[in-house]
Amino acid sequence: MSDAGIRVEAHAKVNLTLEILGKRHDGYHNLVSVMQTLELHDTITVLPSPTLSITCSEPSLSNEDNLAFKAAAALRAVTGATRGAQIGVEKAIPVAAGLGGGSSDAAAVLRGLNELWNVGLTAGELASLAFTLGADVPFFLRGGTALVQGRGDDVTPLPPAQLDWIVVLSPESFADDKTRRLFAQVQPRHYTRGALSHKLAGRIRAHGDVPPQFFFNAFSEIAVDAFPQAQRAFNDFGEVGARDVVLSGAGPSFFAVPPNRETGVAWQLLLQSRGWRAFLTRAWWSPDRQVAPE
Ligand code: C5P
Repeated sequence: MSDAGIRVEAHAKVNLTLEILGKRHDGYHNLVSVMQTLELHDTITVLPSPTLSITCSEPSLSNEDNLAFKAAAALRAVTGATRGAQIGVEKAIPVAAGLGGGSSDAAAVLRGLNELWNVGLTAGELASLAFTLGADVPFFLRGGTALVQGRGDDVTPLPPAQLDWIVVLSPESFADDKTRRLFAQVQPRHYTRGALSHKLAGRIRAHGDVPPQFFFNAFSEIAVDAFPQAQRAFNDFGEVGARDVVLSGAGPSFFAVPPNRETGVAWQLLLQSRGWRAFLTRAWWSPDRQVAPE
């Protein structure tokens, strides 16, 4: 990267838990989720330019509807910045897959342009702006391990979860309005009270282990009906040897924690040989992470 531009990594996430507490009057749902960023990342570059523009390695996202472009436009609007930027998005995270790629790209653009334009928004101001772009964008401003509540905007950083290798299987998705369509199918019988997520957060705070019995996703049944390949993906993941296979976000990606790297390599290769898009990645934390004392 030339010294005039800035390069920012936009990391994917998985939801170790995702509980839906109920529907709110504003149309959103109240959630409790323990989220974890992954090494798997898109790469965002921002270069000084008189105007705002975006290019993306994924041709269908190389336009101004990209959330990364909307993030730049929103930052310019609230700060009154008059400068532009040439935004480049190199995708590695599958699109609309439940791994937060679009939200993470938007958060990375906010961080990159906050620096490039030297607009100096505080963390709180950036978080408020992030939420206007999408409910899980605030989480990605910092990433790592976090307890996420409310609509997604109440983010409590946790110490790093004791996790390392993670295998992710991403079946084909549909990008059009996916999250809203999946939330629209949530029924009261999918509601839980958040106890599992709070228990897991408590273990992580106490630097305990992270057993997969704590993993949970309220969208599991809805996603299996909504995505044609989801049931087969889940079954195949189990057949290659993974015992606890969990949905991420509103799907359709699944993840599982292998006991070691070698087993993770085997799962990934076996899934790929069955024609799936599969990744061997690791839990990821920002090098400058700081957890405020409780
Ligand atoms: O935040 P985002 O724009 O990605 O959310 C898309 C849609 O998903 C929302 O408009 C809402 O219908 C639904 N949603 C929800 N509860 C949340 C987050 C999203 O019902 N906590």
